[in-house]
Amino acid sequence: MLDAKTIEVIKSTVPVLEVHGQTITKQFYQMMFKNHPELLNVFNHANQRQGKQPAALANAVYAAAAHIDRLEEILPVVKNIAQKHRALGILPEHYPIVGENLLAAIKTVLGDAATDEIIDAWAQAYGVIADVFISVEAEMYQEAEQQKGGWRGFRRFVVERKVKESDVITSFYLKPEDGGEIASYLPGQYITVRVKPEGQEFTHLRHYSLSTSAGHPYYRISVKQEDAIGDNPAGVVSTYLHEQIQEGDTVEISAPAGDFTLDQSKQIPVVLLSGGVGLTPMVSMLETLVEGDSNRDVVYIHAARCGSHHAMKEHIDQLTREHADRLRSYHVYESPAAGESCDKTGFIDLPWLKTVADPKADFYFCGPVPFMRAVNQALKEWGVPQERIHFEFFGPADSL
Ligand code: HEM
Repeated sequence: MLDAKTIEVIKSTVPVLEVHGQTITKQFYQMMFKNHPELLNVFNHANQRQGKQPAALANAVYAAAAHIDRLEEILPVVKNIAQKHRALGILPEHYPIVGENLLAAIKTVLGDAATDEIIDAWAQAYGVIADVFISVEAEMYQEAEQQKGGWRGFRRFVVERKVKESDVITSFYLKPEDGGEIASYLPGQYITVRVKPEGQEFTHLRHYSLSTSAGHPYYRISVKQEDAIGDNPAGVVSTYLHEQIQEGDTVEISAPAGDFTLDQSKQIPVVLLSGGVGLTPMVSMLETLVEGDSNRDVVYIHAARCGSHHAMKEHIDQLTREHADRLRSYHVYESPAAGESCDKTGFIDLPWLKTVADPKADFYFCGPVPFMRAVNQALKEWGVPQERIHFEFFGPADSL
């Protein structure tokens, strides 16, 4: 454990880091990738470009530093990050590399203000934080491996089927190449795909939510093809999966992970809201709710740009017909094409939500950030308590 003096130094420098945090982490990434280019095999280059990952890491470091004498309070956050690290294959030997480069970046940015005492305190604090991550991740690696059908690291899966769900979303049905069993998962969890498209120097990893209930002999992910928009180039992995990967080809994946999951211990109604490709964990939750023993009332609300972007419509319509006693589904189109029908035009808002959902329900939502902000805001205004609001970001966690 750290001594009182070190804790004081750490806490008094948190505000300084908050001011320089992004500059430090950007500097840190530049240094680390220069010294260890092999790490470009695990980091998401798009997140780097957009500055999302530096922000996420900076925030995590402040949070950890501010709680250095009571790290147990931030354990849920640590576990969420550790799930992603485990899914990406981050190992104990990577931690000293991050530590060394982070300290070097702090020194470079703070200059003379970074006294030996400060640097030494941060080195100690980083060691403590890293040890927490390493031990939480060790447990997660063990769980993933020891679970029935589970495995450690990456395993090759064959794309058994590739099904177009809309103009922009395609599903991939994945079966293990070794013919063995696959690990079960909780609705809402994701798997991590590792590919090396031709012409790319590094491997690329992406998390994709599983888009069907567990219990099948395959995993299914449903991927949106991310086109180039403005300064952001087209998605490397989504383009590769859509355009290059064919039925019979293989990809590597790591075992299911993630803590955005349906709480199945409850009996209250459930409202599932999704925007665009955010429907993937919601469809998994929906299937689980209607297939199992639960009698919970379910409202499924999906927002899409228009009919041609609306994935899995037939499937949801069929489930709604089959479970009409307790499932209702609605779709909201931002700008429907001529002749397209929908339950609401424009965006989901509170007055409309009040007409279709029960405020005493558990709410789960996932989608683009503006969609998530609007839904979160509406639920807060409606007085839905925080413990019944559950959401997940695609990409590095942001704040609503
Ligand atoms: C993701 C924190 C160590 C590799 C993240 C995220 C945070 C974080 C907050 C974003 C999670 C999200 O997506 O919401 C930390 C902290 C560390 C640490 C506090 C040290 C105590 C490491 C190490 C490595 C690593 C040692 C490997 C060299 C990654 C990668 C991602 C990630 C590859 C995915 C993000 C991307 O590719 O854009 N980490 N991390 N992290 N971390 Fe760490």
